[in-house]
Amino acid sequence: MDSPSVTSPATWSSVHELLAVLAVEGTAGSIVDCGAGTGATLATIARRAPGSALTALDVDESALEKLVRRLPQVRVVRHDLARPLPLPDGGVDVVVSHNTLECLVEPAALLADVARVLRPGGRAVLGHTDFETIVVTIDDRDLARRVLLTYAELQILNGEGLATGVPDRGLGRFGRGSCR
Ligand SMILES: C[S@@+](CC[C@H](N)C(=O)[O-])C[C@H]1O[C@@H](n2cnc3c(N)ncnc32)[C@H](O)[C@@H]1O
Repeated sequence: MDSPSVTSPATWSSVHELLAVLAVEGTAGSIVDCGAGTGATLATIARRAPGSALTALDVDESALEKLVRRLPQVRVVRHDLARPLPLPDGGVDVVVSHNTLECLVEPAALLADVARVLRPGGRAVLGHTDFETIVVTIDDRDLARRVLLTYAELQILNGEGLATGVPDRGLGRFGRGSCR
Protein backbone atom coordinates (compact mmCIF):
# COMPACT_ATOMS: atom_id res chain seq x y z
CA MET A 1 0.00 0.00 0.00
CA ASP A 2 1.42 3.41 -0.93
CA SER A 3 -0.56 5.44 1.58
CA PRO A 4 -0.46 5.65 5.37
CA SER A 5 -2.66 3.21 7.20
CA VAL A 6 -5.84 4.97 8.31
CA THR A 7 -7.89 2.05 9.57
CA SER A 8 -7.47 -0.30 12.48
CA PRO A 9 -6.98 -3.93 11.37
CA ALA A 10 -8.75 -5.06 14.54
CA THR A 11 -11.87 -3.13 13.52
CA TRP A 12 -11.89 -4.48 9.98
CA SER A 13 -11.34 -8.06 11.04
CA SER A 14 -14.27 -7.85 13.46
CA VAL A 15 -16.50 -6.54 10.64
CA HIS A 16 -15.60 -9.53 8.48
CA GLU A 17 -16.08 -11.87 11.46
CA LEU A 18 -19.58 -10.48 11.97
CA LEU A 19 -20.44 -10.89 8.29
CA ALA A 20 -19.15 -14.46 8.40
CA VAL A 21 -21.17 -15.34 11.50
CA LEU A 22 -24.33 -14.05 9.83
CA ALA A 23 -23.50 -15.78 6.55
CA VAL A 24 -22.75 -19.25 7.88
CA GLU A 25 -25.35 -19.44 10.62
CA GLY A 26 -27.21 -22.70 10.08
CA THR A 27 -25.65 -23.43 6.69
CA ALA A 28 -22.54 -24.81 5.11
CA GLY A 29 -23.98 -24.62 1.59
CA SER A 30 -23.28 -22.28 -1.30
CA ILE A 31 -22.16 -18.75 -0.48
CA VAL A 32 -21.57 -16.01 -3.07
CA ASP A 33 -19.70 -12.79 -2.27
CA CYS A 34 -20.73 -9.92 -4.58
CA GLY A 35 -17.78 -7.50 -4.74
CA ALA A 36 -15.46 -9.92 -2.98
CA GLY A 37 -12.34 -7.81 -3.51
CA THR A 38 -9.26 -9.62 -2.23
CA GLY A 39 -11.38 -12.02 -0.18
CA ALA A 40 -11.40 -10.55 3.34
CA THR A 41 -14.95 -11.74 4.02
CA LEU A 42 -14.61 -15.08 2.23
CA ALA A 43 -11.41 -15.89 4.14
CA THR A 44 -13.32 -15.55 7.39
CA ILE A 45 -16.28 -17.54 6.05
CA ALA A 46 -13.91 -20.29 4.86
CA ARG A 47 -12.47 -20.59 8.36
CA ARG A 48 -15.91 -20.79 9.96
CA ALA A 49 -17.55 -23.08 7.41
CA PRO A 50 -14.83 -25.04 5.62
CA GLY A 51 -17.39 -27.24 3.85
CA SER A 52 -19.10 -24.36 2.04
CA ALA A 53 -18.99 -23.89 -1.71
CA LEU A 54 -17.67 -20.35 -2.05
CA THR A 55 -17.93 -18.08 -5.10
CA ALA A 56 -16.31 -14.67 -5.49
CA LEU A 57 -17.68 -12.11 -7.96
CA ASP A 58 -15.80 -8.92 -8.68
CA VAL A 59 -14.90 -6.80 -11.68
CA ASP A 60 -11.35 -6.07 -10.50
CA GLU A 61 -8.99 -8.61 -12.02
CA SER A 62 -6.02 -7.77 -9.79
CA ALA A 63 -8.12 -8.12 -6.64
CA LEU A 64 -9.37 -11.51 -7.85
CA GLU A 65 -5.81 -12.66 -8.56
CA LYS A 66 -4.90 -11.90 -4.95
CA LEU A 67 -8.05 -13.69 -3.79
CA VAL A 68 -7.14 -16.84 -5.76
CA ARG A 69 -3.66 -16.90 -4.21
CA ARG A 70 -5.16 -16.47 -0.77
CA LEU A 71 -8.13 -18.82 -1.17
CA PRO A 72 -7.51 -21.35 -3.96
CA GLN A 73 -10.66 -23.28 -3.03
CA VAL A 74 -12.94 -20.34 -4.01
CA ARG A 75 -14.58 -20.27 -7.43
CA VAL A 76 -13.74 -16.88 -8.89
CA VAL A 77 -15.80 -15.15 -11.58
CA ARG A 78 -14.85 -11.79 -13.02
CA HIS A 79 -18.20 -10.07 -13.31
CA ASP A 80 -19.63 -6.55 -13.52
CA LEU A 81 -22.37 -6.37 -10.88
CA ALA A 82 -24.22 -3.87 -13.06
CA ARG A 83 -25.15 -6.90 -15.16
CA PRO A 84 -27.35 -9.86 -14.13
CA LEU A 85 -25.56 -12.30 -11.84
CA PRO A 86 -24.05 -15.26 -13.74
CA LEU A 87 -26.03 -17.69 -11.57
CA PRO A 88 -29.22 -19.72 -12.07
CA ASP A 89 -32.48 -18.95 -10.26
CA GLY A 90 -32.87 -20.16 -6.70
CA GLY A 91 -29.59 -22.04 -6.40
CA VAL A 92 -27.68 -20.07 -3.78
CA ASP A 93 -27.99 -20.42 0.01
CA VAL A 94 -26.34 -17.15 1.00
CA VAL A 95 -25.26 -13.96 -0.77
CA VAL A 96 -22.89 -11.72 1.10
CA SER A 97 -21.75 -8.26 0.02
CA HIS A 98 -19.72 -5.73 1.95
CA ASN A 99 -19.03 -2.10 1.03
CA THR A 100 -19.96 -2.70 -2.60
CA LEU A 101 -23.60 -1.65 -3.15
CA GLU A 102 -22.55 2.00 -2.89
CA CYS A 103 -20.20 1.49 -5.84
CA LEU A 104 -23.09 0.70 -8.17
CA VAL A 105 -25.18 3.17 -10.13
CA GLU A 106 -28.29 1.01 -9.63
CA PRO A 107 -27.89 -0.96 -6.39
CA ALA A 108 -31.60 -1.89 -6.39
CA ALA A 109 -31.10 -3.85 -9.62
CA LEU A 110 -28.44 -5.99 -7.93
CA LEU A 111 -30.71 -6.56 -4.92
CA ALA A 112 -33.51 -7.75 -7.19
CA ASP A 113 -31.12 -10.16 -8.87
CA VAL A 114 -29.84 -11.37 -5.50
CA ALA A 115 -33.45 -12.28 -4.66
CA ARG A 116 -33.65 -14.18 -7.95
CA VAL A 117 -30.56 -16.35 -7.28
CA LEU A 118 -31.29 -17.10 -3.61
CA ARG A 119 -33.13 -20.32 -2.82
CA PRO A 120 -36.44 -19.93 -0.96
CA GLY A 121 -35.44 -19.07 2.61
CA GLY A 122 -31.93 -18.12 1.50
CA ARG A 123 -30.16 -15.21 3.11
CA ALA A 124 -28.62 -11.96 1.93
CA VAL A 125 -26.01 -10.45 4.27
CA LEU A 126 -25.30 -6.89 3.21
CA GLY A 127 -22.75 -4.81 5.08
CA HIS A 128 -21.92 -1.17 4.73
CA THR A 129 -19.49 0.95 6.70
CA ASP A 130 -20.88 4.28 7.82
CA PHE A 131 -17.73 6.18 6.92
CA GLU A 132 -19.16 9.47 8.13
CA THR A 133 -18.99 8.18 11.70
CA ILE A 134 -15.36 7.08 11.49
CA VAL A 135 -13.17 8.43 14.28
CA VAL A 136 -9.55 9.01 13.30
CA THR A 137 -7.34 8.55 16.35
CA ILE A 138 -3.77 9.01 15.21
CA ASP A 139 -1.02 11.14 16.70
CA ASP A 140 -0.23 12.83 13.38
CA ARG A 141 -2.82 15.61 13.46
CA ASP A 142 -1.94 16.87 9.98
CA LEU A 143 -2.56 13.40 8.55
CA ALA A 144 -5.83 13.14 10.50
CA ARG A 145 -7.04 16.42 9.01
CA ARG A 146 -6.05 15.40 5.47
CA VAL A 147 -7.89 12.07 5.85
CA LEU A 148 -11.08 13.64 7.20
CA LEU A 149 -11.15 16.46 4.65
CA THR A 150 -10.51 14.07 1.78
CA TYR A 151 -13.17 11.66 2.93
CA ALA A 152 -15.76 14.40 3.40
CA GLU A 153 -15.10 15.64 -0.14
CA LEU A 154 -15.22 12.12 -1.59
CA GLN A 155 -18.66 11.60 -0.02
CA ILE A 156 -19.97 14.80 -1.59
CA LEU A 157 -18.46 14.11 -5.00
CA ASN A 158 -19.60 10.46 -5.02
CA GLY A 159 -23.09 11.65 -4.11
CA GLU A 160 -23.02 13.86 -7.18
CA GLY A 161 -21.78 10.99 -9.32
CA LEU A 162 -18.37 12.59 -9.83
CA ALA A 163 -15.23 10.50 -9.71
CA THR A 164 -12.66 13.29 -9.64
CA GLY A 165 -12.18 16.68 -8.06
CA VAL A 166 -10.64 15.87 -4.68
CA PRO A 167 -7.36 17.74 -4.16
CA ASP A 168 -4.32 15.45 -3.93
CA ARG A 169 -3.28 15.36 -0.27
CA GLY A 170 -0.72 12.58 -0.68
CA LEU A 171 -3.04 9.83 0.55
CA GLY A 172 -2.57 7.46 -2.39
CA ARG A 173 -5.50 5.17 -3.29
CA PHE A 174 -7.59 6.36 -0.34
CA GLY A 175 -7.44 9.91 -1.66
CA ARG A 176 -8.83 8.81 -5.01
CA GLY A 177 -11.84 6.98 -3.61
CA SER A 178 -11.86 3.32 -2.67
CA CYS A 179 -14.52 1.60 -4.82
CA ARG A 180 -12.43 0.81 -7.91
C1 LIG B 1 -14.70 -1.25 -1.04
S1 LIG B 1 -14.34 -2.71 -1.92
C2 LIG B 1 -14.97 -3.98 -0.81
C3 LIG B 1 -14.32 -5.30 -1.07
C4 LIG B 1 -14.73 -6.42 -0.10
N1 LIG B 1 -16.15 -6.67 -0.13
C5 LIG B 1 -14.29 -6.11 1.31
O1 LIG B 1 -15.13 -5.81 2.16
O2 LIG B 1 -13.09 -6.13 1.57
C6 LIG B 1 -15.59 -2.70 -3.23
C7 LIG B 1 -15.42 -3.86 -4.19
O3 LIG B 1 -16.48 -3.80 -5.13
C8 LIG B 1 -15.95 -4.06 -6.42
N2 LIG B 1 -16.83 -3.44 -7.41
C9 LIG B 1 -17.13 -2.13 -7.54
N3 LIG B 1 -17.96 -1.94 -8.56
C10 LIG B 1 -18.19 -3.18 -9.10
C11 LIG B 1 -18.95 -3.65 -10.20
N4 LIG B 1 -19.66 -2.84 -10.98
N5 LIG B 1 -18.94 -4.98 -10.44
C12 LIG B 1 -18.24 -5.84 -9.68
N6 LIG B 1 -17.49 -5.44 -8.63
C13 LIG B 1 -17.47 -4.13 -8.36
C14 LIG B 1 -14.57 -3.45 -6.39
O4 LIG B 1 -13.74 -4.00 -7.39
C15 LIG B 1 -14.12 -3.79 -4.98
O5 LIG B 1 -13.46 -5.03 -4.92
